[in-house]
Amino acid sequence: MFGRRGSSGGFTPPAKPKSDEDAEKAAPASAPAPEPKPEAEKPTEPKVQAAPPKPEPKPEPKQKIAPKPEPDPEPGEASLSAEAKEKLDEVKVNVFNDLMEAVDLTELSSLTSEQVREEINDMVSEIISMRGLVLSLQEQKTVIQDICNDILGLGPLEPLLVRDDIADLMVNGPDVTYIEVNGKMEITDVKFRDQAQLMNICQRIVSAVGRRVDEASPICDARLADGSRVNVIAPPLAIDGTALTIRKFKKDKLTLENLLQFRSITPELKTVLEVISAIRLNCLISGGTGSGKTTLLNCMTGHIDSDERIITCEDSAELQLQQPHVVRLETRPPNLEGKGEISMRDLVKNCLRMRPERIIVGEVRGPEAFDLLQAMNTGHDGSMGTVHANNPREAISRIENMIMMGGYNLPSKAMREQISGAVHIIIQAARLRDGSRKITHLTEVVGMEGEVVTLQDICVYEIEGEDENGNLVGRHKFTGMRPSFWDKARYYGLESKLAEAMQFVGS
Ligand SMILES: Nc1ncnc2c1ncn2[C@@H]1O[C@H](COP(=O)(O)OP(=O)(O)O)[C@@H](O)[C@H]1O
Ligand SMILES: [Mg+2]
Repeated sequence: MFGRRGSSGGFTPPAKPKSDEDAEKAAPASAPAPEPKPEAEKPTEPKVQAAPPKPEPKPEPKQKIAPKPEPDPEPGEASLSAEAKEKLDEVKVNVFNDLMEAVDLTELSSLTSEQVREEINDMVSEIISMRGLVLSLQEQKTVIQDICNDILGLGPLEPLLVRDDIADLMVNGPDVTYIEVNGKMEITDVKFRDQAQLMNICQRIVSAVGRRVDEASPICDARLADGSRVNVIAPPLAIDGTALTIRKFKKDKLTLENLLQFRSITPELKTVLEVISAIRLNCLISGGTGSGKTTLLNCMTGHIDSDERIITCEDSAELQLQQPHVVRLETRPPNLEGKGEISMRDLVKNCLRMRPERIIVGEVRGPEAFDLLQAMNTGHDGSMGTVHANNPREAISRIENMIMMGGYNLPSKAMREQISGAVHIIIQAARLRDGSRKITHLTEVVGMEGEVVTLQDICVYEIEGEDENGNLVGRHKFTGMRPSFWDKARYYGLESKLAEAMQFVGS
């Protein structure tokens, strides 16, 4: 049972965070204790908002984001009238406040979330009968569920977090939340009580990785315990209330087979991608945000030989390689004092001293581009990375820009020679306007012509029109060009596989 708070005790600071592997990884070792003091919590609630009439839930004693509760469709609530819903909300607030008065949250930290749920269940039933409230069974269940979500998890976001079909979750202030399902944006009816509740939840997420978000540092990246990537930007930068963006971590990563089912690729293209991965070509996967770059990179790694030593460098670990011999590295953001940052460049440089056979960089976005190219140029064939660009040509110029940003004083011809020597293949991913994701280009970097890097499309996706449902209709077409990696495919004994897919007569 809960310890009731003694009259003299006041608020006891929450217990130290439970060791959490993820949190520990992301939290700088030198960072100060991640747990923000409860008093310090106050200023994080933007002053622009009128002070909420009710006390906010006290800081979560449990650092780990609690396991998701069972999804609750709440049919009862959905069918309630606006008036009844308002009444139920009021009940929730009152019961919640009573509960906060009655329990000592620090006591909860020693219980499992299941036990906490049971305790809350008992207490809430008690409070309801003490207050003489009349609630249907369904209403009572809803109240308990919401309160548990508030205390244990991410409040109103919990029902969305348990859904596997959601790719992204976007909160634009307390009243508006969008989700992306099947490549399309949808608005939801999720609402936070107020800005303070939203901010509190954001605080809880980021403090789990030893960071904090407030007016002084209103931008923050973090990660949920399940690996989902989180970005928070708070007022005053976010004008209409805190914007919280969550890229849901998919446990079951898509495979090339799935991409085939989704018609992102054709069987022939799938075979060619497998060959490319197996014969150790250096690949750049290019695409916009959410176009499926990381997913494709993950798929491509599935066809790497199991005896190769692979080192992955990521900003936040998303890749799930199946091979046994993998070293996974992750960058580290600066700590609260702005110190201790380990950049992608640091990782890639260090990688080279780790005797890698392949280096895989989750996202190339800065001067590490140069180091990756060097690795590709110095015998680490089969290295891969993703880059944010809208077509293969742009991918090349993005890489050029990144190298320039790194302050290397290379003439642009030399830079392009580096690129054309290092990168063999650019694979372009895109999210089309009907929400479908396609591999739109398979393009080979063939060399230099004067000062220009020459590219040759091997396969392109051509849009032919639209069907009656507004879905795009198109086709993947091989251009008929014989790829210059043909000999390499032969060397690896995969020539006939390639020839069959590309409908060439093997030569
Ligand atoms: N070909 C595809 N078909 C359908 N969904 C996809 C496809 N590729 C990726 N996705 C989904 O799209 C979302 C974004 O993919 P991700 O690879 O993280 O994009 P990026 O790295 O380009 O930002 C993920 O939820 C992923 O499961
Ligand atoms: Mg990505």
